[in-house]
Amino acid sequence: MVGGLSTMESKEYPGKLTPFVVLTCLVAATGGLIVGYDIGISGGVTSMDPFLMKFFPSLYRKEKQNQSSNQYCTFDSQILTTCTSSLYLAALVASFFASSVTRIFGRRWSMLAGGVSFLVGAALNGAAQDVFMLIFGRILLGIGVGFIGQSVPLYLSEMAPAKLRGMLNITCQLMITIGIFSANLINYGVSKIEAGWGWRLSLALAAVPATIITIGSLFLPDTPNSLIERGHDEKAKEILRKIRGTDDILEEYSDLVAAGKDSKKTRHPWINIVKRKYRPHLTMAILIPFFQQLTGINVIMFYAPVLFKTLGFGSNTSLMSAVIIGLVNVCATFVSIGTVDRLGRRLLFLQGGFQMLACQIILGTLIAIKFGTTGEGTIPKTYAAFMVLFICIYVAGFAWSWGPLGGTLVPSEIFPLEIRSAGQSINVSVNMLFTFVVAQTFLPMLCHFKFGLFYFFAGWVIVMTIFIALFLPETKNVPIEKMILVWKAHWFWNKFIPDKNEHVSTKEMAMI
Ligand code: BGC
Repeated sequence: MVGGLSTMESKEYPGKLTPFVVLTCLVAATGGLIVGYDIGISGGVTSMDPFLMKFFPSLYRKEKQNQSSNQYCTFDSQILTTCTSSLYLAALVASFFASSVTRIFGRRWSMLAGGVSFLVGAALNGAAQDVFMLIFGRILLGIGVGFIGQSVPLYLSEMAPAKLRGMLNITCQLMITIGIFSANLINYGVSKIEAGWGWRLSLALAAVPATIITIGSLFLPDTPNSLIERGHDEKAKEILRKIRGTDDILEEYSDLVAAGKDSKKTRHPWINIVKRKYRPHLTMAILIPFFQQLTGINVIMFYAPVLFKTLGFGSNTSLMSAVIIGLVNVCATFVSIGTVDRLGRRLLFLQGGFQMLACQIILGTLIAIKFGTTGEGTIPKTYAAFMVLFICIYVAGFAWSWGPLGGTLVPSEIFPLEIRSAGQSINVSVNMLFTFVVAQTFLPMLCHFKFGLFYFFAGWVIVMTIFIALFLPETKNVPIEKMILVWKAHWFWNKFIPDKNEHVSTKEMAMI
């Protein structure tokens, strides 16, 4: 079966969705705010003249004196892109350290570390006097993003009851989109401050979400899985009773203990994850975030204002368009929240893929018609409005498919406990690496590939959609510690999974 287990074979433990689990998940998911705030803030800030004048005066002069009519190349500046993307390199490195903290000390300590680092980074950026302070601040923000991105999705997937895991996990992506949207709004608001210090406010306000997650993590309980992994079995039972709202937790508890046994034996998750039996997991941990970034989403998220300026929009309209796109991103994420545990992961991935593909082809063609290969031309208002519309449809497609599913949900639910923390680190680092690559290469690529850049990303969307159709099993409603069953039932991956497994009874294996 290409899609994995049927719903008949998925499993339910007793218990309900308690207010306690909703509250803890909401607090943890605010970690997503800091990730999103940063994604949304940099593009807008770097399109503000006072910011450019202070930190990148030569670029500012170049932009003002730009006599060239080639619109594709106006913003091509190495130092600007390096500043934007330095954060993602820091996050990449940090997520590997986060893996050990998350595993050895528990999920919440990683969240706390992430919050504190982000807080200091925000202060440095708001007060920045020169490029070095700016970049140093961004590195601290990056460390925060690495720790939060590594721990929050795991936390959510482990706290949630299996049948609502998709919904609860996606609250993290929802917070990312709210973070991006708030940043777009704030950029739009502060750009109106005449005195020119608005960018400081934009950057310093990152401290607000950082404070929430920092304080929040001090009060959050750790997940039952992590408590068992660290030998606190009684505490794990107590938390499990509380989050499931029932005393009837024995079945789930013993499954978690069985999953924990393997994990305790595993001293080196990094060596473990390359074993043959984890090949499906490793492949997904690498390819899913890689593909997610190759949808080209961050071209829009980082550079929407710059891109619109390039296309001839005024500064104000550019920032406003970014706000509209940010709002579509938030609203469309709700579609995913409402459907992912019913329609399943695969259907959303495939539908979203087709939608993004159609929009990219249309957008590339619209730009080609107006700017051709020379980059010369201007676009009329209605034409520009159409472009914004197709960007919105593209973003919506991403926001109910690759955004939540590729960003946090699928990678955080497919790993067995013994490699979960390491697997999630790989996911975050690959995501950050390719976020970095896209951020770093977009402006030069636009200058060289021109409108073809949209076709380039469209090509990748075709590849990833075929990949999902063939290789991703359906994981909806499957308890996280029984995930092995979906691989065993898959036409391609089954040969990698041994017939005997401690997490699953022979009866369950035989049912496949
Ligand atoms: C991605 C980010 C992206 C965001 C957009 C996340 O899942 O990892 O790179 O900017 O979605 O909403």
